[in-house]
Amino acid sequence: MISILILISELLHRVLLLSGSGLSPWAIQRDPLAVKRAVAEHTGCHGDLLEDDLAPCLRLKSLDQLLSVKVESPRFLPGFAPFVDGTILLNPSTNVPVTSDGSASSTVATSAGFELADFPERDLMFSLTSTESYLDLSAQDLEFGFNESRRDRILRTYVRNSYYYHLNEIFSTLKNEYTDWERPTQNPLSVRDAALDVLSDGHTAAPLIRIGYLHSLRGGKTFFSIFITKLENGIFQW
Ligand SMILES: *[C@@H]1O[C@H](CO)[C@@H](O)[C@H](O)[C@H]1NC(C)=O
Repeated sequence: MISILILISELLHRVLLLSGSGLSPWAIQRDPLAVKRAVAEHTGCHGDLLEDDLAPCLRLKSLDQLLSVKVESPRFLPGFAPFVDGTILLNPSTNVPVTSDGSASSTVATSAGFELADFPERDLMFSLTSTESYLDLSAQDLEFGFNESRRDRILRTYVRNSYYYHLNEIFSTLKNEYTDWERPTQNPLSVRDAALDVLSDGHTAAPLIRIGYLHSLRGGKTFFSIFITKLENGIFQW
């Protein structure tokens, strides 16, 4: 396995990360057993959730049956996505501990992320657009904006689904930091823009910049680029 990884990394000369990194909460499935359970239920491939490999059973299913599997995922989190090894595929040589609820005891969202930036001998360019969260809001919300109570609901959902601890403190801090206090009253469009900023920074920009930072800390050559976009009448323009 290790030799395969070395071979693959030999093939990579430079790395380009566009609008995302492995540290984004949507990049890693933190509860892969829930996905496994959903797939097992939809396909009738039952067995022991932890111990059994579904693959032999899935190979007997038709393409239609496989494509009809729907995995409901919480807002802002992925359905099918890579997951940290040791959660479903147990590696006998390292024996990553699995907690009683089936989730791995360490997840990328809580770790420092050094392991994801451990390629200083390869150049890295990471890129962002001005706002990475247009897809998080409905067309109507984008066009007309919304009031502060609706914003609070969106942010609460985001915080609840993306963090484990100190949820109220994180929520209050976000609200405070992303409110323009110089503005006497908030209008629906400025509330919308602030919410877009929170989501964009939280789930994409900050995790990506962190990877760039860690890569340069390790002595790698690191470049950053940004595509400026803006929202006009609910449609974003390059
Ligand atoms: C905020 O907007 C929602 C609709 O999106 C509405 O139901 C609610 O009454 C509004 N709240 C306030 C305080 O204006």
